[in-house]
Amino acid sequence: LVLPVSGAAAKFVAREIDKTVRARNAAGKSTVLGLATGSTPVGLYRELIRMHKEEGLDLARVITFNLDEYYPLPKEDPHSYFRWMHETFFNHVNIKWENIHIPDGTLRLDEVDDFCAVYERKIKDAGGVDIQILGIGRTGHIGFNEPGSPRNSRTRMVTLDSITRQDAAAGFFGEQNVPNLAITMGVASIMDARKVFLMAFGEHKAAITYKAIEAPPTEAITASFLQEHPDAVFVLDQAAAAEL
Ligand code: GLP
Repeated sequence: LVLPVSGAAAKFVAREIDKTVRARNAAGKSTVLGLATGSTPVGLYRELIRMHKEEGLDLARVITFNLDEYYPLPKEDPHSYFRWMHETFFNHVNIKWENIHIPDGTLRLDEVDDFCAVYERKIKDAGGVDIQILGIGRTGHIGFNEPGSPRNSRTRMVTLDSITRQDAAAGFFGEQNVPNLAITMGVASIMDARKVFLMAFGEHKAAITYKAIEAPPTEAITASFLQEHPDAVFVLDQAAAAEL
């Protein structure tokens, strides 16, 4: 789906979430959202906050699972996705704190495997992800599933690609400050979602977006596995769609 500008794309995805949440609220059911960080979903979060404040969108029954977090990193660190999600979205809506799940960058190394297994179980116990929001990294990653991440990968600790660390360098005041590791939901965890919206905006996403959509599905570009998903939509602005 190509929309003229990223603002229209953010509104489109926000409306889809709004429809699902309202329908499930009316049925007395919770909605499970898989959430992403990065500059791409900022407009979506802004629109959802507006819908909450001005149109009565009630998120009290929404359960969220974030894709990833740098490791190791304290929650209060200015670069943590924990902090980013609260400042950008959670602090402005009525999602209950006990319904928010984000991979934990503060674990001891020997706690990580158990944490990841429990994270997967919590997603299942919540009923599975209804709508998964994704961005795409320059390496073609979804979450932090860098090239080489298998189709059957689950939530786990990963090593970040050097391109990903370069792209994060500005935010961290230098590549040497970007963590080497992260905890991320896996390709299979993402593919289990009932509906997926991958958003990509801007000309710097055009080359990787083309490969993710047109190249055969491959571990080298984990976003390409979404071609095999029954209900995945790439939501692009014209710049990101330029090479299709
Ligand atoms: C990071 C995040 C990804 C995100 C990517 C692209 O690597 N872990 O989830 O998709 O950055 O970021 P941006 O949206 O800022 O281009």
